Amino acid sequence: MSTPSLLILPGDGIGPEVMAEVRRIIDWFGAKRGLPFDVSEDLVGGAAYDAHGTPLTDDTMALAQDADAVLLGAVGGPKYDVLDFSVKPERGLLRLRKEMDLFANLRPAQCFDALADFSSLKRDVVAGLDIMIVRELTSGVYFGEPRGIFEDGNERVGINTQRYTESEIERVARSAFDLAMKRDRKLCSMEKANVMESGVLWREVVTRVGAEYPDVELSHMYADAGAMQLTRWPKQFDVIVTDNLFGDLLSDLAAMLTGSLGMLPSASLGAPMSNGRPKALYEPVHGSAPDIAGQGKANPIACILSFAMALRYSFDQGAEASRLEAAVEHVLAEGHRTADLLGEEGRAPLSTSAMGDAILAALD
Ligand code: NAI
Ligand code: MG
Repeated sequence: MSTPSLLILPGDGIGPEVMAEVRRIIDWFGAKRGLPFDVSEDLVGGAAYDAHGTPLTDDTMALAQDADAVLLGAVGGPKYDVLDFSVKPERGLLRLRKEMDLFANLRPAQCFDALADFSSLKRDVVAGLDIMIVRELTSGVYFGEPRGIFEDGNERVGINTQRYTESEIERVARSAFDLAMKRDRKLCSMEKANVMESGVLWREVVTRVGAEYPDVELSHMYADAGAMQLTRWPKQFDVIVTDNLFGDLLSDLAAMLTGSLGMLPSASLGAPMSNGRPKALYEPVHGSAPDIAGQGKANPIACILSFAMALRYSFDQGAEASRLEAAVEHVLAEGHRTADLLGEEGRAPLSTSAMGDAILAALD
């Protein structure tokens, strides 16, 4: 098999700083685990605008379409706030998501034992938590027609439409079942089939796809009850699949069960390519953090865990992904902390590269 290709787009602000640590880890897997990657690097966001006058060139877009996976840092910053909407850094990211047709957004909520006291919930409720929310990303109420603000008699009416085709539900359901097969084989689908026809169809299609996955235990829950259960006892879940709107809320809720923005990875997956791998973009949930950029303060773990997700979901290297996650868990257990993980403690924080050093040492 040929060497898998990885396109790296560090972007702006702390993006390049955290990505530098990921590059060292990628090199480690090549040298120590016989797992080489054909890595190329290019510009996105403000960095691309500065060089080319556009947040994503056609050449970079073509590289992304051809790569086995794309790993992105973050885009944006105050310097670019004055730019016209059409060339803002965020447009680069939106173009990638749209043209790669990334319809399944994966947001894990994972709680490392050493950080359990960081949560707003009790330690018992979150310690060891490891769940995955799959949010449909390209359809639903954020895109459905008709939409707009219209005149209606002597007042105005604001309209958005929740619209899902069977094929849109089917493809995201299939992504979620495939994921569940690589995890604990438990999938909970959330909608509001009690009050929404789109939810009735959602439940029907997910159930139908489920027949192809007899090894996955499928359950259904109304999304409001799901929100309660996520805060009451989140460990009852493994994979959750839901629509764009409910997924927006539930993934943010689940992520915050576990603490800092500097710890949260994500993936966006599309249809399988000719080699069987899904189109895929991996990125930390956080932004470019202009308040700490250029100071070596950023926590690289969110970006490092995004690469772990790439190992698991694009490259079928689940054991190597677990190895990397265990190294992160180990350094946290040893008490290594970047500034964002220290809170009010008076201890001196680790720099971005010192955290990278610690994780590499743990891998060794
Ligand atoms: P942000 O996520 O960049 O920062 C929010 C807060 O969290 C800041 O105090 C920051 O210092 C801290 N933080 C974030 N990541 C961290 C890390 N790895 N280590 C330590 N601390 C970290 O969100 P904000 O401030 O709303 O946006 C800043 C810029 O980033 C804006 O231009 C925004 O448009 C852009 N942005 C880009 C995203 C992306 O590229 N996917 C996502 C969110 C925002
Ligand atoms: Mg959101």
